[in-house]
Amino acid sequence: MYRSHTCGELRPSHIGTEVTLAGWVQRTRELGGMTFVDLRDRYGLTQLVFNQEENADLCASAGKLGREFVIQVTGKVIERTSKNKNIATGEIEIVVSELTILNAAKLPPFTIEDDTDGGDELRLQYRYLDLRRSPMQEKLRLRNKVALQTRVYLDSQDFLDIETPFLIKSTPEGARDFVVPSRMNEGQFYALPQSPQTFKQLLMVSGFDRYYQITKCFRDEDLRADRQPEFTQIDCEMAFVEQNDILNMFEGLIKHLFKTVRGVELVETFPRMDYAEAMERYGSDKPDIRFDMEFVYLNDVAKGKGFSIFDDAEAVVAINAADCVEYTRKQIDELTEWVKRPQIGAKGLVYLRCNADGTFKSSVDKFYSPEDLAAWAQKANAKPGDLLFVLSGDLDKVRKQMNELRLHMGNELGLRNPNVFKPLWVMDFPLLEWDEESGRYHAMHHPFTSPKPEDMHLIQTDPGKVRANAYDLAMNGVELGGGSIRIHDRDLQSRMFDLLGFSKEDAQAQFGFLMSAFEYGAPPHGGLAFGLDRLVATMGGSESIRDYIAFPKNNSGRDTMIDAPSPLHEDQMKELGIKLRG
Ligand code: AMO
Repeated sequence: MYRSHTCGELRPSHIGTEVTLAGWVQRTRELGGMTFVDLRDRYGLTQLVFNQEENADLCASAGKLGREFVIQVTGKVIERTSKNKNIATGEIEIVVSELTILNAAKLPPFTIEDDTDGGDELRLQYRYLDLRRSPMQEKLRLRNKVALQTRVYLDSQDFLDIETPFLIKSTPEGARDFVVPSRMNEGQFYALPQSPQTFKQLLMVSGFDRYYQITKCFRDEDLRADRQPEFTQIDCEMAFVEQNDILNMFEGLIKHLFKTVRGVELVETFPRMDYAEAMERYGSDKPDIRFDMEFVYLNDVAKGKGFSIFDDAEAVVAINAADCVEYTRKQIDELTEWVKRPQIGAKGLVYLRCNADGTFKSSVDKFYSPEDLAAWAQKANAKPGDLLFVLSGDLDKVRKQMNELRLHMGNELGLRNPNVFKPLWVMDFPLLEWDEESGRYHAMHHPFTSPKPEDMHLIQTDPGKVRANAYDLAMNGVELGGGSIRIHDRDLQSRMFDLLGFSKEDAQAQFGFLMSAFEYGAPPHGGLAFGLDRLVATMGGSESIRDYIAFPKNNSGRDTMIDAPSPLHEDQMKELGIKLRG
C-alpha cells in the first residue's frame, strides 16, 4: 500500500495515528533545526516535519528534496503549532520517521503554484505539469461534475446514450472537415464528424425516441477563445416532439446542472427572444443580458443636419453608458482607437456627454444645436451624468461593431459579473444566410433544419426572409447550444438541398442515405447540442474554454506537447497512396 491517507484528508481527529502519505514536493523550508516539506496530491497539501535533533540524517535528506520530487513518507500526525487556516489540513502536521524518494524530478520549467510564472505556450508544452496546479485540477473536476450530472438528468428522462462513429462522411455544420485517408480504399477519405447530426436523426428513424451522447466533434475552422478544432458536445435528439417540448426538456437540464454543480438556482422560466429582436436590441444572436445598454437608433434625430458621415449612413446607433460623463478625453480617445482596430473596423466614435448641469458636449457639436443633442439624449433615455457612444454605417456592420463596444464597456464597467448567470433562448433564426464569397445561400443552422410552415410561401420568392424552427441557448454572451426541429419529409429535404445549391447528384451522393431513411417511416423529430466546453467554462466564470480541456490545441491548431500535426513517414504515405504536391 503506497498510502494510508491522501494529502487532503488528515484532521485533528487523526492526531496520534501513524500514517503513510505519497505525493509531490511542493516546497521545502528550513527553520531553526527543522525542515518543513509541503506534500501535494490532487486532494490537498499536508505539512511534513523533519527534526534535526531527533533524526539528523533524515532531516538532511529532506533538505535535499527538490521541487516536484515524488516521495513517500511514514510518520505520526501531531497538532500543528502555527495553524494554517487557508488549507483543510492546516491544523495538523506529520513528524516523519521514514522517507522514500519514489522518483526524483528535474526542476520544472515554471512554478507549480496557483499563480504560476509560466506563459501560455510553455504551459501548453508541459501541459502535464500545468495540470498539477490546483486551479487546473479544479476546472477538470467541474467538468467531470457537469458531465456526470448531465448523465444523471438525461438518464432520469429516459434518454439512451448511444455512440455514433467518427469515421464518416461529411456532416455539414458550416466548417471544413478534417479528413482521414483510407488505406483499404486507396484514394478515398473519411471525414471526421462536425457533429453526429445525421446519425442522431437516423436513430430517431430507428425508434430510439430519446438519444444523447457526450461526444467529440471536429471542425476545421479559425480558432478563438471559445473554439477548438476538436470539442465536446452534449448531443441530444427526441422524436414526437414540438419545439416547446425540446426547450422545456433542456431548460430542465441546464437548471439541474447549475443547481447540483454550482448551487445556483436559475430563473424558473428562461426568457425567449426572437433572433430579429436580439439583433436589433443587442446586435448579437447571443446577447449578454446581464446588463442593459441596449441599442438606440438615432436615425431620425441625427440625420439631415449636415454631418455627412451620419447623413450617408444606413444606421446611426448609440449606447448609453450610464453615469460615465466623467470619462476623460484620454479614455474616450482610447475607446476610439479600440473601435478603429481592424478586428472591429469602425471608422470613428462619436460621443455625447450629458453634463450634470443639463448641458451637452459632443465631438460633433458644431453640426448639432443643443436642442438636437437633447433629442439624442431623450431618445436614449439619458440623464445628466450619462455618456452616449454613437457609431454609424451599414446596419449589419454597425450592429456588429456596437455589440463589441457594448461588451467591452460592460467589461470596463464591471457589469459582466462571472457569478451571475442569465440564460436566454434565441428563437426563430433565419433559415438561410447569404454568403458573399460563394454567391449563394447557406443553411444558417444546418441543411436538416425545418422552415417555419407559415414562411414556406417565401421559399422561392424571398428565401432570405424564411425563418427556421431553430433556437440557440445563449448565456452571458456565449452561445451554449443550439438545435432545431428537423425536416422529416423526403421531398422537403430534397427541396432544401436544391435551395442550397446542391445538384440532385451531389445531394444523392452525400445525403442519399438520409433521404432514403425518410422513406421508411421517419417520425417528426428535433433536438439540440450544447458545447460542453463552453458550458463548463461559463459555469466556471471564464470566456476561454482552453483551461477546461485537459489537452487543448493552441491558436494555430497545434498540440505543441506531442508536436501534432506532423509530417507522415514516407512508407505510410506510400501505403495510403498519397503524394504531396510541391
Ligand atoms: P452547433 O453547430 O450550433 O449545432 O453546435 C452546438 C454547440 O457546440 C458548441 N461548438 C463549439 N464549441 C467549441 N469549439 C467549437 N469549434 C465549437 N463549435 C460549436 C457551441 C454550439 O452551440 N448538430 C447541431 C446541433 C443540433 O442541431 O442538434 C450542431 O452541431 O456551444
